[in-house]
Amino acid sequence: MQAGLFISVEGAEGVGKTTSLAYIHQLLDDSAISYTSTREPGGTQLGEKIRDILLDKKNTQMTDMTELLLMFAARAQHVEEVIKPALNQGSWVICDRFTDSSFAYQGAARGIAAKTIDLINEASLDSFSPDLTVLLDVDVKVGMQRAGSRGELDRFEKEDLIFFEKVRQGFLARAKVHERFNIIDASRSITDVNSQLSDVLLPKIHTWLKLSSQSIQK
Ligand code: TYD
Repeated sequence: MQAGLFISVEGAEGVGKTTSLAYIHQLLDDSAISYTSTREPGGTQLGEKIRDILLDKKNTQMTDMTELLLMFAARAQHVEEVIKPALNQGSWVICDRFTDSSFAYQGAARGIAAKTIDLINEASLDSFSPDLTVLLDVDVKVGMQRAGSRGELDRFEKEDLIFFEKVRQGFLARAKVHERFNIIDASRSITDVNSQLSDVLLPKIHTWLKLSSQSIQK
């Protein structure tokens, strides 16, 4: 059986991840591709408990390293319990954030060295990574204005403009060195963003469907 494709959707605050995820789901539904939609931190019962600890704004004492290790603890569980089994069954996995968020938030913004994160990534996940990453990119001020109008802020959303500028630059730096990245200009209208998403995803969908029908015929 043709293994599913693992797609992560990344970006800083207020880039429109929810809207883009909904559109990606629609593209897959239209092609009758089965998929698992999941998120990080979280995605498993255990991971969702870790997420609550990570986002809780009362946890002001949390060190940057604790934050990083909790992200990877949740991720290790997520990969083994949800992501790999789904892919092996031929289902696509659409993940709201993955390891690139750790490089952008805990690395570029909090200041943990990329080589430290690389080591943890290798030790905990064997550096398992997405087949394709969609990076929604928008000016930080615009993103924060969008995110700021959402009500009560979590531990990350309480950070300032400089922090999110570092997050944005962290993602862009990774996009430069990893071919799996596709940068979407998320400052445009929803129609335009959707059309950029179609341009990235439809060729992948068509290729996968073709390979999948060939593997059924064999
Ligand atoms: P998310 O629910 O995607 O929040 P948002 O809707 O604001 O994008 O993710 C929760 C927060 O966790 C988000 O602020 C980014 C942060 N995060 C990290 O700092 N490192 C990570 O590795 C991941 C996966 C998320």
